[in-house]
Amino acid sequence: MCGIFGIINDKKNQAANTVLDGLKKLEYRGYDSWGISIIDEGKNQIQVDKHIGKIGEAKTNLPPGKIALGHTRWATHGGVTDNNAHPHLDCTKKIAVIHNGIVENYQELKEELLVKDHKFISETDTEVIAHLIEEKSKSKSIKEAIFETFKLLRGSNAIAVLDFTSQAIIACRNGSPLVVGIGSDQYFLASDVPAFLKETNKVYFLNDGDAVILSNSGIKLFNIETGKEKNLISQILDWKLEDAEKNGFPHFLLKEIYEQLKTIPKTTSINEKQIKELSEKIKSGYKVILTGCGTASYCALATKYFFAQIGIDAQAIPSYEFMPFSKFIDEKTIVFAISQSGETADTLIAVKEAKKRGAEIIAVINARGSTLERLADTVLSVGAGPEIAVVSTKAFTSQLATLYLLTTAVTDRLEEGKVKIINLGKVLTKWLDVQSIKRLVSLAKRLMDEEHIYLIGKHINYPATLEFALKIKETSYVHAEPFSAGELKHGVITLIQKGTPCFVLASNDEVKDEVLSSAAEIKARGGLIIGVAPFESNEFDVLIKTPDLGDLTVFANIIVGQLLGYYLGVGRGADPDKPRNLAKSVTVK
Ligand code: G6P
Repeated sequence: MCGIFGIINDKKNQAANTVLDGLKKLEYRGYDSWGISIIDEGKNQIQVDKHIGKIGEAKTNLPPGKIALGHTRWATHGGVTDNNAHPHLDCTKKIAVIHNGIVENYQELKEELLVKDHKFISETDTEVIAHLIEEKSKSKSIKEAIFETFKLLRGSNAIAVLDFTSQAIIACRNGSPLVVGIGSDQYFLASDVPAFLKETNKVYFLNDGDAVILSNSGIKLFNIETGKEKNLISQILDWKLEDAEKNGFPHFLLKEIYEQLKTIPKTTSINEKQIKELSEKIKSGYKVILTGCGTASYCALATKYFFAQIGIDAQAIPSYEFMPFSKFIDEKTIVFAISQSGETADTLIAVKEAKKRGAEIIAVINARGSTLERLADTVLSVGAGPEIAVVSTKAFTSQLATLYLLTTAVTDRLEEGKVKIINLGKVLTKWLDVQSIKRLVSLAKRLMDEEHIYLIGKHINYPATLEFALKIKETSYVHAEPFSAGELKHGVITLIQKGTPCFVLASNDEVKDEVLSSAAEIKARGGLIIGVAPFESNEFDVLIKTPDLGDLTVFANIIVGQLLGYYLGVGRGADPDKPRNLAKSVTVK
């Protein structure tokens, strides 16, 4: 949550506009407000432009300049107001601060500053940082003042400071992500790579405890604790510019849904050595725990079913409910931490706890250079490329495909598993033709005014209903409630009235008949039954026919939910890339 982007040495002398463009690429990290600060050589203080609302097509009137620092906000402390938008200035207006995280002790820090007569304009925890730096810089260098201030902050934080006097951007990381981009004579600081991918793919991901100073002369890396300079070893990412662009699609979400036709089969280029080593451990009796938040937790649950199919009793525990069960973890436990971003606070807390208890940590992640990557013993990188839409689609299916491949490796069928995943890509590509989309669009139109939708599925199609419903809720704001097929009739069936839409997710499997019986029970109470399945049935009033892919049918069933959520969202006037109140990466508890 919250996007940070800054530039030093803007080639076009239009740093504010460059930062504005980059922030648009980071808007998925928060869109309550945005703001930019700039050093204008003609003025003797920092200039700021900040507004509430989405950055969208916003323009800025800030003057030309070569150095600017900006922010997109997902509000934590202080309401969504212009004053609470970042950047925040100190009393002299020569220090501008932006921030991603929560300063847990900001109240006590603020009280000390009030005594010293500092004037506060906002209700944020961030403004405290600007005044603290101001106070300390009265007797210390700006570098020392920032490092000392940062050490006083409790919680997970990344800060970036624009300093008028030294004409530098200085940033510190502890918990929240920061990456620098090294261009030819231009230097960038961002929360995520897409902000500057247009200019460079040469990067350095900051570690916790790292600080950087970006100035005219380049980028210097420091250890915050000792204040000593460190060697900065950059890396070149294989991401392409089009990964961060819409490429003709109206929204990133739709582009990313379609990208799955390639990203799912791409998971077969998995590191076999890693997978085989892991499967040997699982075969030898290691306990398996799968964890994650939101969509990733549904991936964990679906994988639990895949493990059950091969006779392994894996546990799926949402990271935010991990603690009561952590006492069962020992040195013979493997914890699969599933996360698109690798920065979700609840997932990281669960992982740290599991690590403390001796578990081996396997990160199943999409983004690069994350905290989870550093905490893990093994990284299963699912390689879906940058996922910009807040709602996760391609990262989820790549994670699930990767973990499915792992289960095939455990039963020595990895080659067979790979053939199935490659075939899945081909079949999905054929299936997602104009006709399928027309059917989905017409169903979306039919459901456009519904306020409540129910979903049922059983076994592997149960986690599919959870993910399907989440896509509908996040993207269209329609209340969609998923149930195991057996559960609905134990109470919630009271909510079914004439015409209530109820999705039935099914595959050609051993529970197909049971699911159809549940569908019949709902139909008898007047529910409108919408089948999402690879077969026809008299119980279905409407059928969205998915390809019959055996145990992988669930992928197609979930993609129906992604697309339906998208078309419902667009039809209802929501922004499918940036649903209200959501942040892509929730880096606070
Ligand atoms: C937020 C997002 C969800 C995402 C979840 C986990 O809640 O809105 O879409 O599934 O975080 O994110 P992660 O990066 O850990 O997969």
